Amino acid sequence: MTTGELSTSTAGRARLPESLRETLAGHYYTDPAIFHAEQERIFETGWFCAVHSADLTRPGQFETVQIGRESVLVTRARSGEIKAYLNVCRHRGARLCTEDEGEVRRSFQCPYHAWTYSLDGKLIAAPNLGAMDDIDRDEYGLHQVHVREWLGYAWLCLAEQPPSFEDTVIQDVTDRLGTPDAIVGYQVADLKLGRRIEYDVKANWKQIVENFMECYHCATIHPELTEVLPEFADGLAAQYFVGHGAEFGAGVEGFTVDGSAGLEKLPGVDEDQDRRYYAITVRPQVFINLVPDHVVFHRMFPLAPDRTLVRCDWLYLPEVVDSGADIDRSVELFHRVNQQDFDACERCQLAMDSRSYRDGGVLVPSEHHIGDFHDWVRKHIG
Ligand code: FES
Ligand SMILES: [Fe+2]
Repeated sequence: MTTGELSTSTAGRARLPESLRETLAGHYYTDPAIFHAEQERIFETGWFCAVHSADLTRPGQFETVQIGRESVLVTRARSGEIKAYLNVCRHRGARLCTEDEGEVRRSFQCPYHAWTYSLDGKLIAAPNLGAMDDIDRDEYGLHQVHVREWLGYAWLCLAEQPPSFEDTVIQDVTDRLGTPDAIVGYQVADLKLGRRIEYDVKANWKQIVENFMECYHCATIHPELTEVLPEFADGLAAQYFVGHGAEFGAGVEGFTVDGSAGLEKLPGVDEDQDRRYYAITVRPQVFINLVPDHVVFHRMFPLAPDRTLVRCDWLYLPEVVDSGADIDRSVELFHRVNQQDFDACERCQLAMDSRSYRDGGVLVPSEHHIGDFHDWVRKHIG
């Protein structure tokens, strides 16, 4: 069949030319029932990248994170391990910590009736507890959430039986880079936070994933990025080819807003990775961007069908951050890309309830791989 002839789409919704593939229907981006199903069957069942481990350096430092419908309390225990618990008191269910972040000295005490939990989640004190000697203090400790540290981040899983971390998170990186070893040289876990910017995006989380996966939009909305990576002007995303990193333009010295020199190359980065940009989507909520001298790490926190908080970390060698070296030009490049991308996502979100988009839109060939992400979403939520 040649381009221009018609084929029947999988949903049978419309006959599409072969060069087009259907998107999800508009209500997938606005319907509270769909969002609820995603919370339950995607965010509460898989691995969720929650906290930068270096943000919890001392025992008792904590952050609270929304994962699906649950608030999760993440802290560092005295053993040095990162621990995570459902943020719910085992007595009558009061929210234990209402702050986004903070620090306790040695325990978490519920403000309601003062049930008190150690940093490793055990019930250690409660009014009249001594008189109730049939209460098992482990049994009435906080409900634990699975934790796995990788790339310097704490990834959490609310499922009782988590899926294999290797077959999900690490496999997504491998599928993109071609080999699990390709990310090792960047030594992401040893890098230090140089800058963090949060974006409160008025768009569904899937808009943000889809936008990150394609580069059909690069020539229109990313002038600075396309200047640094001229092949992006063709619209084929770095994620389109397995193992391919987009090459810096001939006159470009570094991954900076004006193409001027960046910082020293990370010592473990291979020659064939030098002067290249790799973009990785780790479903459902992480983007990793690798360039020779730094790493840009996005975490998404879906808050509502039409609202997603994006936390973007720029990570550098510790000595670069400690020396006060100028990172502004490298931060500015991806900050502009983020703003340009999130503006586009918000623009699309406005139309999702329109009757014009009731059956969705279409994907051109350079976007067809987004259809695989749609299949992944459908498979999970049924
Ligand atoms: S609800 Fe927490 S101590 Fe009563
Ligand atoms: Fe973009």
